[in-house]
Amino acid sequence: ATERTLVLVKPDALRRGLLGEILGRFERKGLTIDALVVRTMDAELADQHYAEHVDKAFYPPLKEFMTSGPLAALVLSGDEVIAVVRALVGATDGRKAAAGTIRGDLSLSNRENLVHASDSPDSAKRELALWFPEL
Ligand code: CMP
Repeated sequence: ATERTLVLVKPDALRRGLLGEILGRFERKGLTIDALVVRTMDAELADQHYAEHVDKAFYPPLKEFMTSGPLAALVLSGDEVIAVVRALVGATDGRKAAAGTIRGDLSLSNRENLVHASDSPDSAKRELALWFPEL
């Protein structure tokens, strides 16, 4: 069934000039971009977006990274888009992600891994409301 998911193309991707490459992969898959905005995440939004991670040891440097410059937030829609996008993005650690995935092809880091994508229907609903309350 058609779903919607939230994707963040992270600050490392914009710094490296990879926004077009990454958007192109989603477009070529046949997904629809319903909304797209470039903005810099502030500390409050970071804490809300990553609520499940705020107490973890990796969170302070993650927050520093995610608020370090502009990112692209997008709403993608398509058939089973939540799982489809997770498969395109690949495993969290770019060193371990499979070749052919965005992280597997383009990232060599566990933190600066280019993309965030909602991992379930519940997280998609929560994250879409946070980033695109008007939709
Ligand atoms: P993301 O899919 O945005 O969800 C949480 C983010 O935290 C993850 O991508 C990585 O950027 C980061 N992350 C997760 N685990 C680790 C880790 N062990 N060390 C550093 N960063 C991590």
